[in-house]
Amino acid sequence: MINALRGMKDLTFEESERFVHIVTTARTIAQRYGYGYIETPILEETKLFKRSVGESSDIVGKEMYQFMDKGNNDVCMRPEGTAGVVRSFVQAKLDRRQNEKFKFYYYGPMFRYERPQKGRLREFHQFGCESFGEASVYEDFTIIQLIGDIFKALGIGYKLQINSLGCPECMPPYRQELISFLTECKDELCDDCNRRIDTNPIRVLDCKNEKCQALLVDSPKLISNLCLNCDDDFTTLVRLLKSENIDYEIDTNLVRGLDYYNKTAFEFVSDEIGSQSAIAGGGRYDKLVEFLDGKPTPAVGFALGIERIMELVKMPEVSREGYYIGAMDEEVIPSLFSLASKKRTSDKVTVEYGAKKLKAHLKGADKVNAQFCAVIGEDEYKNGTIWIKDLVNKEEKTIPLNEF
Ligand code: HAM
Repeated sequence: MINALRGMKDLTFEESERFVHIVTTARTIAQRYGYGYIETPILEETKLFKRSVGESSDIVGKEMYQFMDKGNNDVCMRPEGTAGVVRSFVQAKLDRRQNEKFKFYYYGPMFRYERPQKGRLREFHQFGCESFGEASVYEDFTIIQLIGDIFKALGIGYKLQINSLGCPECMPPYRQELISFLTECKDELCDDCNRRIDTNPIRVLDCKNEKCQALLVDSPKLISNLCLNCDDDFTTLVRLLKSENIDYEIDTNLVRGLDYYNKTAFEFVSDEIGSQSAIAGGGRYDKLVEFLDGKPTPAVGFALGIERIMELVKMPEVSREGYYIGAMDEEVIPSLFSLASKKRTSDKVTVEYGAKKLKAHLKGADKVNAQFCAVIGEDEYKNGTIWIKDLVNKEEKTIPLNEF
């Protein structure tokens, strides 16, 4: 028997309903905020992710589905959506239209070769939004509000964690300060952290090792070393969150696993789904368009993990819907198709191809959750009528076929 690959899942029945419900809800809300759909390829050149997500990140360093294709190109299954959207933005020369703003939403599969566990898959799905051309921190706030609206519509509780990662003015001096601190306690930090002191010292801040975390309590904090502009923006963000009654926590160790962020970084977490608790994450990435050879363009965005949200979402009750059409006589069955296609212009219709007794048809209608069971029996056939039972209101009637 051939099974799906480890860490990859089929979605059917109840689960696929959840999936569609989440995407439909998220897309409706994103559209209200002015986002239009973008679809980018799953396969991209490996160097796109090396240059954006960052070579020192775990995603690029350890988790890429990377291979040489038949034309000897170094390609990779996208581990996230932002890099592809930015590549597409630059390729379409939208970066040259400096006075315009562009907002895109997307959803689809992402691939990370991680060790699978609850809430962590190798193929998973994200819904994301990317906003280009808006440098105002109001846009960071609006994105957070958008995610809040999605979770509210899905009936999901969350905690919001925020931080500021500064900018090219305040980050480098802070980085130096942090490196000095980390070098001093080098011997007590874990191997991973020791490696990161040279490659990506900021990532040391979110090491999960308890001993490292205890040492980091005394580390210098970027939030108290921000330049005037970053500090102003962060203060404004906090003020807006307060005024709109959006609860938040400032987490000075929140650095995100991707290297392209500056200024605002945030994560939405749930305490109901175990250790893989991040249900959405994002932030500002004002330098990424430039890194990918475009003209400087401020940008901010987020992505949410659909599978993790599937665990939490409360589904609306499914009510009976549409028609089930059947006949009690074999020779009547071909005539059901024209009835069905007429009805299908407005309703869901299931046609039963076998001639059956009424009781069996009622059972069939029940199985497909139809509201109406419509059956042509011997009398109805003779009289050019059809019998219909409304399974919600428990009413039945016989009407001429041309009125059906
Ligand atoms: P990320 O935090 O790496 O951000 O992923 C976003 C969300 O995807 C996570 O919060 C989580 O819910 C889900 N996720 C990540 N890895 C897995 C996995 N292995 N299995 C299941 N779910 C997972 C990004 O990808 C950025 N591109 C977000 C962004 C957009 N920033 C700016 N724009």
